[in-house]
Amino acid sequence: MRFLPHDRDPSVLVVGAGYVGLCLAAVLAQRGLRVIAADVDRAHVERLRAGRCTIAEPGLEELLRDGLASGRLTVTADLSAASDCDVVLLTTGTPVDAEGRLDPSQLEAACRDLAPRLRAGQLVVVKCTVSPGTTRTVVAPLLAGHGLEPGTDIGLVHCPERLAEGQALDQLRELAVVVGGVNAESAEAATAFWERHLGVPVHPVKDADVAEAVKLASNWWIDHNIAMANELALFCDAFGIDVMDVVTAANTLPKGAGRMNVLLPSVGVGGSCLPKDPVMAARAAADRGVELRTVATGRAVNDAMPGHAARNLVDGLHKLGTDPAGATVAVLGLAFKSDTGDLRETPVAPFVEHLRNAGCTIRLHDGLAEPDRVRALFGQDPEPTIAAALAGADAVAILAGHREYRELTAADLRAATRAGCLVFDGRRYFTRDEISDLHAHDLQYRGIGR
Ligand SMILES: NC(=O)c1ccc[n+]([C@@H]2O[C@H](COP(=O)([O-])OP(=O)(O)OC[C@H]3O[C@@H](n4cnc5c(N)ncnc54)[C@H](O)[C@@H]3O)[C@@H](O)[C@H]2O)c1
Repeated sequence: MRFLPHDRDPSVLVVGAGYVGLCLAAVLAQRGLRVIAADVDRAHVERLRAGRCTIAEPGLEELLRDGLASGRLTVTADLSAASDCDVVLLTTGTPVDAEGRLDPSQLEAACRDLAPRLRAGQLVVVKCTVSPGTTRTVVAPLLAGHGLEPGTDIGLVHCPERLAEGQALDQLRELAVVVGGVNAESAEAATAFWERHLGVPVHPVKDADVAEAVKLASNWWIDHNIAMANELALFCDAFGIDVMDVVTAANTLPKGAGRMNVLLPSVGVGGSCLPKDPVMAARAAADRGVELRTVATGRAVNDAMPGHAARNLVDGLHKLGTDPAGATVAVLGLAFKSDTGDLRETPVAPFVEHLRNAGCTIRLHDGLAEPDRVRALFGQDPEPTIAAALAGADAVAILAGHREYRELTAADLRAATRAGCLVFDGRRYFTRDEISDLHAHDLQYRGIGR
């Protein structure tokens, strides 16, 4: 095979040791490969070298430490070792600009740094989420700057990263990798790499443009599906129906290649991908004269959810005869989804803002989020324990289903809070039995569409 060594395991360079890059680097090192994770953020590199991981992914810090201790994983701020590595994975950030257009500056800078250090026979894999054509028209010319032709001298493929935060390490070891190469030989090498060295199946597509579109299609679909679930919740509220009953039953219908799969309503959509990727798709389409109306609709619906949820909670307080102005609300779970501490674009921030505007006193807790980041985003310190957050609260808003919140019982909540306390469910998804238990403990329950 042209772009992988025949006689030994390939060594890997991961460029961009952020969320995706570090997870990939740590898992590949655990699989026995020699991996170098490089990042321009020197403070981040120093922390990682010390075995300290500020990326809140279950199991990642342990895997980082194992990798460092075994010597298979090294972390660096310079790319000088690039020519020694056989496979280069590009995992820099790919934000969008104010107009929603892909901002390729991190990816371009990484390619410029990399280009003079490449040698013939290497395989470069773009993992970043980008608009269709970026690998072919942006990455390839930059890598070719020093006389090596992508596709001929070096392999070049796009393999979108599809992991979900909170389950990233397991998903990396299981999910099929989509491979789209600038030519067949590039794709063949990447296929062999993922199959042999990560032990996962590969789904080949025609070329890199298709692979890039696959990722945008996925997040466009997820965001739009959640928007439908969120509007279904509002619909169910209007009829006094529990949205969970509707979703569970509706999803038994065979449809297409599987079943209907309406996702779940919640306090809103956040994270570094779902609010950005559909917008990137819409902007790229608009640049070619195509309007994607579903993107704008989905985004608008999901962006409105923190406000809906906060108004729902405030309405619940009024109905209980509690004046929201001066009421204490314990907010458990500040991250954008369950089982991660990632606060990027979390819908909990606008939710809290709405409650503050209604005069509520807020207590914050998230055992997975970095306290410094909580302070920076919310302008207040998080409580050190769940008990401190709950003490005497008039309402508890559970906005992420982190394990420690799933383990909280009605008796725990009742013991810590004011009698008749309102339990607001933004993503915890209490079962029918659990809701009965809350009522039996003199607690009120409200959910989104429930
Ligand atoms: N976070 C997710 O759940 C997720 C999931 C799938 C795909 N993605 C995509 O994967 C890519 C990476 O996302 P992320 O969440 O890991 O981003 P991130 O911001 O956590 O990490 C990016 C890292 O790249 C580093 N970097 C920037 N420029 C660099 C350069 N020139 N050289 C070396 N390092 C550089 C940054 O310092 C940062 O540590 C993005 O395209 C994103 O859309 C993310």
